[in-house]
Amino acid sequence: MSRQLTAIRHLDTDTIRALIDDAGKLKESVVSGKEIRSGKARSIGLLFFENSTRTRVSFEQAASHLGYRVVNFSGSGSSLSKGESLKDTILTLKNEGLEGLVMRHKASGSAALGASYFGGPFVSAGDGQHEHPTQALGDALTIKERLGKVEGLKIAIVGDVLHSRVARSNAWLLSKLGNEVRFVGPRSLIPAYTAKLPGEVHYDLRSGIAGADVVMCLRLQRERMEDGRLSSTGEFSRNYQINRVSMRAAHPDAIIMHPGPINRGIELDDLAADAPNSAILDQVANGVFVRMAALKWVFEGEKA
Ligand code: CP
Repeated sequence: MSRQLTAIRHLDTDTIRALIDDAGKLKESVVSGKEIRSGKARSIGLLFFENSTRTRVSFEQAASHLGYRVVNFSGSGSSLSKGESLKDTILTLKNEGLEGLVMRHKASGSAALGASYFGGPFVSAGDGQHEHPTQALGDALTIKERLGKVEGLKIAIVGDVLHSRVARSNAWLLSKLGNEVRFVGPRSLIPAYTAKLPGEVHYDLRSGIAGADVVMCLRLQRERMEDGRLSSTGEFSRNYQINRVSMRAAHPDAIIMHPGPINRGIELDDLAADAPNSAILDQVANGVFVRMAALKWVFEGEKA
């Protein structure tokens, strides 16, 4: 039976640890120029119905390291503009011989739907405000490399939690691995259903990041913002921006993370984004290796 990676919430801790470990091993192989044995060459579709820089390019890089063939597909220029449904689009691609699918879509829940239509190896590249599983896996690998472990840590996830699929995937993953997760932000950007998420809510930045080992900033998602969620971005920055002053509340060895793209000067200032304790570019680099691990994992399910 095919494996599908649509959300961290549905993964057990052994699988999460195995994916992170495999990504670390794949990284060593790529960096040292060793040959990577990924079995049969596969033909995969990268379906991006929403814009992306990091995720799309890292999936292409991952596929290239594994020796897979990639077919790129975006909504614009396709028959979706003639009214074709997501289901018929995916069934068409499957019957044209694509063996695996990676999909990003703006609708929450579309990953599970797309995976069910495809019925074969599938990896979500992010669905709406729901989850972004490979981002969280890459973030976990980055934390492990920077801090030597990814358990027993205090992790503050700061800013626009409401609209963030990255916040949800990271909260599930990091809590499953035994870390303390905190959601920090203004009331209007913290979801009303946090009781269903694994984390403690803080509306005050200082208390939220007090003693934190990892301060994970989120992008203020102005494109998903309904009018009135924020009185002004200036006020948000004054109260919730991560910078050298606000970081004084965190652990002295704390690292700063951000999934990107960054609104510099809003949720994060330049000095903090480019500081030695910023792990942001490590997150980008590790995105390639966790996506290699994820692609391998979904195809390996066919042998199981
Ligand atoms: N972090 C992330 O998903 O970035 P992109 O939107 O550029 O892929």
